[in-house]
Parts: sequence; structure tokens; C-alpha cells
Amino acid sequence: MWYEGQSRATWWERGVIYQVYPRSFQDSDSDGVGDLAGIESRLDYLAELGIDAIWLSPIYPSPMADFGYDVADYCGIDSMFGDLAGFDRLLAAVHARGLKLLLDFVPNHSSDQHPWFIESRVSRDNPKRDWYIWREPAPDGGPPNNWISDFGGSSWEWDDTTSQYYLHAFLKSQPDLNWRNPNLRDAMMAVLRFWLDRGVDGFRIDVLWHIIKDADLPDNPINAAWTPGLTQRDRLIQLHSTDQPEAHAIAAEFRDLADSYGDRVLIGEICLPDDRLARWYGTMDRPQVHLPVNFHLVESAWNAASLKRMIADYEASLPSWGWPNWVHGSHDARRIAARVGEAQARVAAMLLLTLRGTPTLFQGDEIGIGEVTIPPDRVRDPQDLRQPGLGIGRDRSRTPIPWDASAYAGFSSVDPWLPLNDDWRVRNVATQLRDSSSLLSLYRSLLALRRSHHALSIGDFTLIDSAHDVLAYVRRHSGECLLIAMNLSDQTQPLSLSQSLTQSLPKDSRRVEVLSSTLLPSTVVPSTLLHRPLDEPLAPNEGLVLRLKEIH
Ligand code: GLC
Repeated sequence: MWYEGQSRATWWERGVIYQVYPRSFQDSDSDGVGDLAGIESRLDYLAELGIDAIWLSPIYPSPMADFGYDVADYCGIDSMFGDLAGFDRLLAAVHARGLKLLLDFVPNHSSDQHPWFIESRVSRDNPKRDWYIWREPAPDGGPPNNWISDFGGSSWEWDDTTSQYYLHAFLKSQPDLNWRNPNLRDAMMAVLRFWLDRGVDGFRIDVLWHIIKDADLPDNPINAAWTPGLTQRDRLIQLHSTDQPEAHAIAAEFRDLADSYGDRVLIGEICLPDDRLARWYGTMDRPQVHLPVNFHLVESAWNAASLKRMIADYEASLPSWGWPNWVHGSHDARRIAARVGEAQARVAAMLLLTLRGTPTLFQGDEIGIGEVTIPPDRVRDPQDLRQPGLGIGRDRSRTPIPWDASAYAGFSSVDPWLPLNDDWRVRNVATQLRDSSSLLSLYRSLLALRRSHHALSIGDFTLIDSAHDVLAYVRRHSGECLLIAMNLSDQTQPLSLSQSLTQSLPKDSRRVEVLSSTLLPSTVVPSTLLHRPLDEPLAPNEGLVLRLKEIH
């Protein structure tokens, strides 16, 4: 047992998830693209980093039009990544290190190269016809409604063979599956069982809130707030194409299945405001996903006031049975270090790993990869290629992991599919492992701290009043009380804790123990017993985890 007296908390509540983007983690066969054997060869790094579970972005056979999110076979492995035997080896190696492995399940759409779609488009009476969403043209011959693809352009593609349109929320090579068809549903449940039977510990479910559409496919309302700087998708409000009541019933079915396998987790990718996001937990009697992904740290303005408000609102929106979760980077989002800068990336590390809820850390953020400029001739992201100039390119977050300063950063022995970060010769894993002041060392020490102080993983959470540019909260568990205080500015800031907090502390708490500091090397904290006065101001960009004594 991980700790005593808390059998209620599961591994996915206590643990930290690490997202691996397989194309860019480690290449083992010199094709410039990462693969499963490469991931296996780097598992010790992940185990020593101190994470608990690995989520792999898609590894299934795919034409790679959307880099794996266009699946041509849900029960196989793309030869670029390896094969099923290699997957089983990886899974066993992950489990041997006491880690969990999650796959990416992509139920909203398949590739147009999936045998199901190839059959579906052959004739109107093909048995697989209704596995996708086919419609007659509008009376003027145009698309059946006004829906816009998330990657730009109409969501409908004309197909000459049978003279109908099919729906695609993303690329036209990613036709949407029809979850109103019971046979399709059965086939997809069988896919989940296929991987669960093999021993995977759960799934991240791609664009779950898209999974089913209003049966009548009405036009979506126009978004009056749209401006030309926004994407084409934002011209409409996705009222009828996403977040339908029936989608929640499907999520509950997924949950039933996952629960029938025991300790597995379902993480739903859902981009919705708090009130609608919280509904994806389902009810106590009929739960849906364990973790509806909370993207607020990716979206929030980076200042103490906005973060405080966002955290309070999110916490308040959760049902009593809903466990929170946090993420500040992904293969879709801009790198956190590019967004907030080098100094605040350290504060972001502390925030991600000390908030209440399961954190997901995206590969490369632990070494602070910042903005990577992708030369125009190397852009690969279909979203960027279709809507250039909007600054929405995703390649800049998908560049290969620089492992060391050797050729191609130890990622590959050939030029990788995407360029490396410009500063890879100095910003790489090996260099940062040797440097106790590096961001990687800070991540490692924070992960270790989280593991040894249950207050940080499963403790209660209370935001507290503090100076304007300071974000502060208390985590409590089993008599331990930790204060986390972070200076979001580059100026010295008083802590200005609320009187109610300071008064509740015994007199000797005016000197408190420092468990972690964003400004001190990991060789100093937490290995050395350091104290500081509680009323000492925070240095610029300083974040602290402090141990307070509590009155009982
Ligand atoms: C999700 C994935 C993204 C992909 C899209 C379509 O948002 O994270 O990478 O392009 O779904 O599958």
C-alpha cells in the first residue's frame, strides 16, 4: 500500500501522469521518428523522474494525416512505432517499474483509410454505411448544414461515389463515426476490451465532447464575438455538434466497462466551461469519466489574480465525488515555458505539482523547452498548414526530446521529423540532470516531495488571501499543514498572509520549514533543514512549499 489510512485514494488520484508523444520521445530505428522500443529504452528516466503513469498519444496504424489521431486500425500498432509484441514488451517493462500505461482512444473519428470507412463509402446500402454520418446535400447542392471543421473549412466532404456528403469535425481524412449506430458502438467497445484485456491501465479519450451530434444536425449559431484573429471554427458556437446529452450516456458506458476491469482510469479530453465540464463526472450512481480534463492552466492569463479566480471557480464547480486534475502543456498547446518565460516556468512546475488534483506533465516541459521556431518548409501540423498566420501551429510543442549534446541530441541518428529546440546543445536532459539548479532537478525534487508528503497529493486545499501578485494556498493532511506561496511577478512581494491564517498558527510557526523553493538548487532543499521567517517577503519569481505547525 502506498500510504496508510487512505485506501480510498486510488493511484490515479495520488499519482502524476506524464504524456509521451511517441513520434518525438526516442527513435530506436534511425528513421527520425520515435517508436515504442525507444520509449522502452527511456523508461528508467521516467521512473527516476518520479511520475506514476504514462499516457501515450496514438500509436495505431495511421496514414499520419493528423499524426496518429487518424486511426486506420484501432487494434494494431503502426509499423513506424513497432508491433503488438513490442507493445506487450513495453507494457510489461512499464509495469515492472511500478508504473501504469494509458493509451489514447480516438472514438470520434477514424481515418478515411480505416476498412470501415472504405466499406462505408462503397454504396448507400453497405452494412457499414451507417457507421459514419452521411447526408444528402442541402437543396442548393451545398453541404447539409453550416458546421465548420476544427481545422477550418466545411465539416462536410462531398463523395462522388454515392453522391452524398460525409461529416468530419477535423480533416476530411478523419470522417466522424456515427455513435447512434449500435453496431459501431459494439465494435468500439470491443476495441476498449481488446486493450484492457492486454493490461492497459486506462485511456485518455480524444475529443470526447464531440462524440455524438444532435440527431437533426441543425445549423450551429453564429458567434457574434468572432474576429479575424480567431480560427474559422470559432465563427460558430458548437451548440449542436458537441456536448450532446447522449454523449454523457456513452461516457457512462465506457465507465461501466472500465470499472468492470478494476483499477483503470478514463480521462476525457473535454474543452468546456466549468459548469458543463463538471457534468462529465456523471452522478454518484452513474459515473462517467474519472477525470474530465481541466485545461484552465493552459488557457488562463498568467497572473495571480486570474489564477486565483480560476482555481476557486474550478474547485467550486466540482461535484463532491469529482477528483480534480490539472495540465499546463500538451501536444496541442503552446509550451508553458514559451508562454510564461523561464523564471515563471519554475513557478508553473510548483503550481502544477501542488494544486489539488492529478497533474499531467507533457514531455519536454520538465526541461523547459520554450518557443521553437519551425521554418516554413518544415511545418507539418495540418491545422497550421490549413490556417497559416494565426499562431496556432502545434509543431512547436512536438519537437523531439533533446536527451544529450551528441548528434541529433541523442534522439535519433538521423535528422528528426521535426527540428530540435534551438538551444538543445545546452537545454537537454543530460545537462539538466547534472545541474541541481536546473528545471529538471526542480521537477524531480517536487515529484519526490509530492510522493513523501500526502498533503500535496490528496490533502485538503484552501486558497488563502495574500498580496496581489502572490498566489497562496494551504494543503492539509493527517496533521500536516503545508503552505504554498508563489510570487507571480518579477518584483519582491510581501506574503501578506491573512490574519486568520497567521492567528491559527502557534507562535513558533513564525519560523517555518522550507520544503521546496523555486530559487534554490535541489541539493539544498529538501535535503537540508532550512527555516525562514513566515513574514519574510518572496523574492522575484519565488515559489515556496513551507511546512507549518498546526494547532489541533
Ligand atoms: C485532439 C488531439 C489533437 C487532434 C484532435 C483530432 O484534440 O489532442 O491532437 O488533432 O483531437 O483528433
